[in-house]
Amino acid sequence: MNKIFPLFIPRFGRAVAILMLFAVITPNALADGRGAQIYQNQCASCHGNDGLALTTPVLHGQEPVYLVRSLTAFKHGSRIDQIMTSMNSIAAGLSDEDILAVARYLAGQDPCEIDLEIDYARAGFREAFSAGRQTYAASNCGHCHESFHHYAPRIMGQKASYLKLALRQFQSGARIAPMMARLLEFWTEQDFRNVVTYISGMRLMRACGSDH
Ligand code: HEC
Ligand code: HEC
Repeated sequence: MNKIFPLFIPRFGRAVAILMLFAVITPNALADGRGAQIYQNQCASCHGNDGLALTTPVLHGQEPVYLVRSLTAFKHGSRIDQIMTSMNSIAAGLSDEDILAVARYLAGQDPCEIDLEIDYARAGFREAFSAGRQTYAASNCGHCHESFHHYAPRIMGQKASYLKLALRQFQSGARIAPMMARLLEFWTEQDFRNVVTYISGMRLMRACGSDH
């Protein structure tokens, strides 16, 4: 027995350790694979580089809890896709596990992989950018959006066309979020343009490379 045990225990231990490792890694690895597959098959055409010209949000690097919340809201109809209503049927086709898997996958992706281009050399860019920064600071937007307060999503570097659309939806009441309508009530056209230029232009500061 003395001869068997010292041999047996380490091997047994190793087998247990390997089994335990699988038990920990496999569900996550499977979920990641599933999330990637869902994204490639069902989402990339609108939210990835193929959908750059569409008024769709960039989802790469978004807070996973926000992704889950918004997909669940689309699924149950408490948020309506104002553009093509397609998000409602797409989300309705996802199980809760699918939603978790795709949110986890997207949260882990690098937003710089989305090839947004910003024409920062255009006339008036700098002026609009600094005026937008001031309005953003005066309205205290960062209080919620830079600390995930009230589950406010990341918006820095978001696509300009989508930011414009989302702000209009809050202003008109088509979409509801804490304080948003009140904050935007007295904004002029110029305020909207400036703040969108600032938020989308913040990609410049995110080391996405000089071409972006
Ligand atoms: C046909 C194009 C299309 C496809 C395909 C699509 N989406 Fe969307 N998605 C949209 C549009 C348009 C919006 C913005 C709707 C609005 O705000 O009115 C949106 C919004 C979202 C939002 C809200 C993000 C935010 O910042 O508020 C999430 C999350 C989302 N989509 C996830 C997904 C996922 C996950 C898939 C794949 C399972 C997917 N979408 C497939 C068009 C699409
Ligand atoms: C009290 C917290 C709070 C403040 C302050 C706030 N927001 Fe929001 N904002 C939110 C929440 C929460 C959402 C997400 C709503 C939802 O889940 O649909 C949101 C959503 C947005 C969106 C849509 C993003 C997306 O991915 O769909 C934009 C754009 C936005 N806010 C811009 C602003 C700007 C600009 C300001 C300053 C004028 C501001 N917010 C101030 C809480 C806040």
